[in-house]
Formats: sequence, C-alpha cells, structure tokens
Amino acid sequence: MSDPLLSRVWRTLQEEGLRSFWLKSIDALGYRRLYLLRRPLAEPILDCPTTLPVAIGWLTLEDVQAYLVFRPDASSHDVTQQLLRGDRCLVARHNDRIVGAIWGSSESIRMQRSLGRDLPLAAGEAYQFDAYTLPEVRGMGIASALSVAWLRHLRDEACVAALLLTVPWNGAHLRCYAKAGYRVTAVVRYVRLGPWRYVFPLQQVTP
Ligand SMILES: CC(C)(COP(=O)(O)OP(=O)(O)OC[C@H]1O[C@@H](n2cnc3c(N)ncnc32)[C@H](O)[C@@H]1OP(=O)(O)O)[C@@H](O)C(=O)NCCC(=O)NCCS
Repeated sequence: MSDPLLSRVWRTLQEEGLRSFWLKSIDALGYRRLYLLRRPLAEPILDCPTTLPVAIGWLTLEDVQAYLVFRPDASSHDVTQQLLRGDRCLVARHNDRIVGAIWGSSESIRMQRSLGRDLPLAAGEAYQFDAYTLPEVRGMGIASALSVAWLRHLRDEACVAALLLTVPWNGAHLRCYAKAGYRVTAVVRYVRLGPWRYVFPLQQVTP
C-alpha cells in the first residue's frame, strides 16, 4: 500500500467512520449501492437562501468555455454534446464567475458512465445529476439553491417528480437535497467487473 492510500484510509476512518469506510471499500471492489432520491413536485418548494450572492441561470453553448474554467476536468466535446442532446445545466454565478452547477435530464437517468447505459424515467419525472460547487464556496447553500431553482422549473413544466442518485457516504449531497425536500425512496445496487454489469432488482425504502 502506498502512503497516499494509507493516509486516505486513515482520513476516511477518522472523518467518516467505519460504515463509510466499509461502503467505499466494497465500492472500490465493484459492488455499488446508490440511494435513489425522489422529490414530488406537488409539495411546496421552499426557498434555500445562499450566504454568497449568486445569480442562477441556464448554461448555453456560448458559456462552455466559462464552464471549463469552473470544471477543468470536463471536456468541451462532452459538455457541448450534453447540451445538444437536450440535457440542461443550471449554473450559479458570483461576480460573473461560475461557482456551482447542476445538470438535469427529462429523458432518462443518466448512468452511461457508471452502468454503461441510461435507465428509463417514468412519464412526468426528471433526473438531476452531476452537482458540483467550487470547494472554496461549499456550505453556503449554492447547490441547495440550484436544486430549488431546478425544482421550480420542473413544476412550471408540469412535471410530477424529480429524481437523483447519490452514494450513501456523500453526507453533503444528502443533506443539501434533504433541505430541498428530496427523500430516499429506493436503493439501486449493481456489481461491475470490467465491462460487465449486473443490476439487482430495486430495493424500495419504506418511509
Ligand atoms: C455536494 C455538493 C454539490 C454540495 O454543494 P454545496 O453548495 O456545498 O451545498 P449546500 O451548501 O447547499 O449544502 C450542503 C449541506 O451539507 C452540509 N454538509 C457538508 N459536509 C457534510 C458532511 N460531510 N456530512 C453531512 N452534511 C454535510 C453543509 O453543512 C450543508 O448543510 P447546512 O446548510 O444544513 O449547513 C458539494 O459538496 C460538491 O461539489 N461536492 C463534490 C461533488 C459531489 O460530490 N457531487 C455530488 C455527486 S454528483
């Protein structure tokens, strides 16, 4: 084991506890559990104020370069293709600089990267994915405010529910979407071995 790996193990155990360490370990071995969160749009959508002033708006094709400054790990080709196929991205700007973003699809649950295929959405459902806030402005309510803005757009479009998937150890992600009214509704489990994937039947979570 290399030093960085040892220190990562130690940090995870110290900061997140044994359960998170166990879940991350089996994930690394190929068994993944994801929480499916659902947010009915008939429920009231309360404001989630930010402590940093931001302007929220849609990302356009003209904004792709600005998006790459925000997410240098993204590729211009992928972002452009995502927008062209109809995925939408809401961004939060502070002083004209993108500091946070979330993506959404009304077509399918985007799982191409992890599962090798997308999963179907029921009529009236929309899927939210790839939330990211710049590390230096996390905890200021930006992802929650973006989520509220996304939910209001969906409600105006007469959607019935918003869905998202997250790993069980992502405390910030779970907290921020709990604030926006999402609840865990099912557990998605799959095993991956090289290019092979097996998806287990959905495990419903009773409220
Ligand atoms: C998840 C993420 C988008 C949240 O963005 P954000 O703008 O910081 O979110 P918000 O400020 O709206 O809400 C975060 C909440 O989580 C809380 N939080 C932060 N770390 C936490 C942790 N480890 N455990 C539990 N809650 C945590 C914050 O205190 C805040 O709650 P509060 O308002 O009640 O205090 C951001 O952490 C991120 O970019 N992470 C890396 C990418 C990622 O994991 N994306 C999600 C998977 S696609």
